[in-house]
Amino acid sequence: MKYVTLPCGETVPALGQGTWHIGDALAGRRTEVDCLRRGIDLGLTLIDTAEMYGDGRSETLVGEAIAGRRTDVFIVSKVYPHNASRRAMPTSCENSLKRLRIETIDLYLLHWAGGVPLAETVEAFEALQRAGKIRHWGVSNLDLAAMEELHGVPGGGAVQTDQVLYNLGRRGIEWDLLPWLRERRTPVMAYSPLEEGRLVRDRGLAAFAKRHGMTPAQAAIGWLLAQDGVVAIPKTGSSERLEQNAHTVEHPLTAEQLKELDTLFPPPDGSTPLEML
Ligand SMILES: NC(=O)c1ccc[n+]([C@@H]2O[C@H](COP(=O)([O-])OP(=O)(O)OC[C@H]3O[C@@H](n4cnc5c(N)ncnc54)[C@H](OP(=O)(O)O)[C@@H]3O)[C@@H](O)[C@H]2O)c1
Repeated sequence: MKYVTLPCGETVPALGQGTWHIGDALAGRRTEVDCLRRGIDLGLTLIDTAEMYGDGRSETLVGEAIAGRRTDVFIVSKVYPHNASRRAMPTSCENSLKRLRIETIDLYLLHWAGGVPLAETVEAFEALQRAGKIRHWGVSNLDLAAMEELHGVPGGGAVQTDQVLYNLGRRGIEWDLLPWLRERRTPVMAYSPLEEGRLVRDRGLAAFAKRHGMTPAQAAIGWLLAQDGVVAIPKTGSSERLEQNAHTVEHPLTAEQLKELDTLFPPPDGSTPLEML
């Protein structure tokens, strides 16, 4: 496994597991739990969830999957922007902890910027840290201007990550946000690394993957794993696809392959607004 170091000095695997839509359907539940567990066995020990996902159903399923394995995993969850206040965040966090059936969330993220001032959200995160409810905090979907604002508020420099949309087809952050974060040794957590599955159906990527004896998903994930300070969190509810995704770590893309992907999916040539899904 490749590891990425957070500003706090802790390391996390560069390939984790996403869980949006997991736990939504009763039918696939058993397989989804088994999948997450198998992922942990394969080293994908960072699991990303949120209070928003399925109104807590994702956190509940993650709680089931990690039962008895607390020390093996690094749990990331997210608070809704409207709950990111001094008053509401403790309740949100407590509810997430109950669903996850754990004592402490390893990394608690502001899901996106909302109406609560960032300074108040940071204060609320710090209070949860003091209470032992979360170990670290970070943000999601914050563009460069918002990250600069965050760094300007008291305690804002303790942010551990910005979780943003980043994949072969969405390279806009490489223009400004990614270099800015790299300068501050703050990793990006790349969400929707497969563009919610659409990337695997891209003709150019499929042809590239075929030429190089890999699957399109492996090419897309492999490209992210080749980037410095990036954690990818693909979601799958299929054990076959999980094994496929996990094996990417063992076959890093070559410099030639990365060059070829640059031609197929060019880097940005100017600043673009941060995209969100
Ligand atoms: N912070 C935010 O605002 C935000 C927003 C979006 C997502 N996220 C996080 O990022 C995680 C990943 O993003 P995502 O779930 O939107 O999309 P994604 O990981 O880009 O794609 C997931 C889709 O790809 C399919 N898939 C997975 N592996 C595959 C493979 N090897 N071959 C073919 N298809 C494959 C999955 O289907 P199967 O399940 O059937 O395999 C699923 O439909 C989320 O689960 C969530 O934890 C965060």
